[in-house]
Formats: sequence, C-alpha cells, structure tokens
Amino acid sequence: MLEKNKKENRDNDLMEKIVSLCKRRGFVFQGSEIYGGLAGTYDWGHFGLALKNNIKQNWWKKFVDGRRDMYGVDAAVLMNSKVWEISGHVAGFSDPTPDGKQFNVMFKTQIGAGEEASVSYLRPETAQGMFVNFKNTVDAFHPKLPFGMAQVGKAFRNEIAPRDFLFRQREFEQMEIEYFVKQENWEKYFEYWKGEMLEWMQEVGLDMNKVHELEVEKEDRAHYSSRTIDFEFDYPFGKKELFGLAYRTDFDLKNHKLDYIDEEEGEKIIPHVIEPTFGVDRAVLALLVSVYAEDKKEGEVRSYLKFKPNIAPVICAVSPLLKNKPELVEYADLKVYAPLKAEFGRVAWDDNGNIGKRYRRQDEIGTPFCIVIDFDTLTDDTVTVRDRDTGEQVRIKVDDLRSYIKERIN
Ligand code: GAP
Repeated sequence: MLEKNKKENRDNDLMEKIVSLCKRRGFVFQGSEIYGGLAGTYDWGHFGLALKNNIKQNWWKKFVDGRRDMYGVDAAVLMNSKVWEISGHVAGFSDPTPDGKQFNVMFKTQIGAGEEASVSYLRPETAQGMFVNFKNTVDAFHPKLPFGMAQVGKAFRNEIAPRDFLFRQREFEQMEIEYFVKQENWEKYFEYWKGEMLEWMQEVGLDMNKVHELEVEKEDRAHYSSRTIDFEFDYPFGKKELFGLAYRTDFDLKNHKLDYIDEEEGEKIIPHVIEPTFGVDRAVLALLVSVYAEDKKEGEVRSYLKFKPNIAPVICAVSPLLKNKPELVEYADLKVYAPLKAEFGRVAWDDNGNIGKRYRRQDEIGTPFCIVIDFDTLTDDTVTVRDRDTGEQVRIKVDDLRSYIKERIN
C-alpha cells in the first residue's frame, strides 16, 4: 500500500512537472487563459508548436513522402451533414453522461443565415474527409490496390469530461491513414500496419517499454470496426489509449456508395479499409513523458528533455560567453548563429545569464547542442559544443559545425 502511494505521488509529481515546464518554457498554455480558460482546449507556444510540427513532419515523411502508394488530402473541417448521417456518427457517436443518458459528442453548428441555414458538425475524425475524396483520388491518380490516403488535421469532440492535460481535449489533431485493400488481404495488411505504427513510435523517440497492445473487445469497438488494436501508453495518470489500428471493413465506402474498378480482374469491388490512427496531442504528451529526465549536475538537480535531435524544438543554441563583449557577440552572430540559422532554422540565440543558467534553460527545452563562443574562438576559430545528455564538451572548428550537427540530426 505504502509502495503504491509512493508511486502515485511520483506519477502525480511527474505530471505536474511536465505541465509546469510546458507553461514556463513556452510549449503549451491553457486555452483562453486570461479569461479563466476554456475546458478541453490548449494553446501552443513557440517551442511546443515546433515540437508538434516536427512530429507531424516526421510522420508525413515516413508514411506519405517515403512511400509510393500514399495520397495526401487536406479536406474541409466543415462537411455536408449527410457525411455524418451516412457514417453513423449522428446516430451513434455518443458517450453516456453521469446520469446515464447518451450524449452525442459532435459539435453541432449552423451553416449560413436565416431560413437558408443548415446544420453541420465540426468533424470528430479526419477519416471521413478521406472517404468522401476516395473517388476524386482514384480518378486523379489511378492508384492500384493496395493504396492509402493520409490526412493530418484538427478534430473536435464535445468530450463530457476533458482531462489529463493534452490527453482528452475538445479540440485536438489527428494523423490518419485509410489504407484500401482487397477483402481477402485485410489480415495481412492489419499486421503490416501494426508493425509500421510500432516502428514510427520508436523512431520518434517514445519509450517503447511504456507502449502496450490491447485487443479491443467487440462491445468496446467503434461502430465501424470489426477488429481494433489500441496502443496504450503508461502515462503518469495510468495506462490509457495512445493510438489505434482498426479494420473498418467496407463499412464507409459501402455507405457512401463508392466503389473501385479492379482493372486486373475487370470487376467492380468495394475495397476494405485498414485504418492506423494517431493523435498528435497524445503523441506529444507520450513523448514528453518518455524523454523527461532528471539528474545531478554540479551538485544541483537538473531536469532535461532527451529529445532526438530531429524532433527537438531547438537543434542548437548559440551563446557568446559574455554578452557585454561586442567582439564575442559579433563573431557569434555573424559567423555562427547566422549560418546555422539559415541551414537549420530551429536555432536559438541565448546570451541571458551565466553559462550554467543557459545550459539549464536549454536542457529544460531539450536542446541537444549548446555552442559557446569564447575568447579562444577569436584567435583559433574553434567553439565549444556541449552535449545535453552527458554534459561533455568538445572543441570543434567553426567551419565543421554544420556537418557536426547534420551528422547527428538523423
Ligand atoms: N478515425 C478513427 C478515430 O477517430 P479514435 O480512436 O476515436 O479513432 C483516434 O481517435 C485518435 O485520436 C486516438 O487514438 C487518440 O490518439 C486521438 N484522440 C481521440 N480523442 C481525443 C481527445 N479527446 N483528445 C486528444 N486526442 C484524442
């Protein structure tokens, strides 16, 4: 019992530390904070946005640009309400309220004014934006089965109890793939996508010891799914869903009355769908939990984020040793900061406080490399590069900085 309480305290502590770091260092703020907030919404600051963008780009690179069989879509968030009737969401996308009534979690909205107005919904999943563009995609690109469509975008759910920071929000982002296959191949591709999802989680830097697979029972599956695996994650508040993989059968295409001409067989078929789905916000949260670390440096506890360099919001920080020495500042700016900024973009200028303070600050946002320009630099064109995780420092030539960092990015 005592052990359990201790663990719970540690976990609560970790969550508090992450939430407070996110605010203090400009990652994530409470939505509409100056008016007391709006439950289930968060706003992204400069570093959180950089992190989120890196995650999305990494995903797109692997699953769209890195493949020959994937077609991107960016559909409108507002869709004809028929989409949500046909998809089964109007009838069935509900959660029970505390007094046991079913509550549809789609946000209803009005399109247009007066008598002309019609009802629509903010999309609760990006998936339907792909299904309704299935025919457009087939007509434009003539893909052969199997092929997929991919979309990254916002989704909205009027969650009854939003909670646990980024975990359950009312406005969030999804990265989804609808992969179209012949019915007889669904099991093969289900297994294949399970592997791809796990591979990506590892590549992005999630702690794979905290990732678990759950075969979802029939009564807990979404109305469209014949098989679902949830990838769960050990968040500080418990083991909960991270991402999902569903076999949506031909449910959606059939309901939308869409089909496909299989040229090899010369027949019309309705492809079946394997759907790997990833919540961007849960990816960020699980990653923060995975990379948050503490150790002791120079007798002080420091906290740092062990992001992979390609995912870190800032790749490197450039620091003149003293900010009141114009010769150091000028060298640091023109010969180090400007070229690195042009090359990598995510480069910070940091001349605030003593060097120890700057290291702590960069450690906290997870910057892998801190570059310091000192008086030796002015005579031998070398700088110190400090490694975030080990604290070790190497002296390297200014001309070699770009390649040094490039080699360590991927
Ligand atoms: N198209 C399938 C679909 O939407 P889902 O399991 O309902 O499936 C997919 O949602 C993913 O979206 C989840 O695995 C999760 O990562 C994320 N997600 C769902 N609801 C969320 C919420 N309220 N806040 C943050 N992320 C959420």
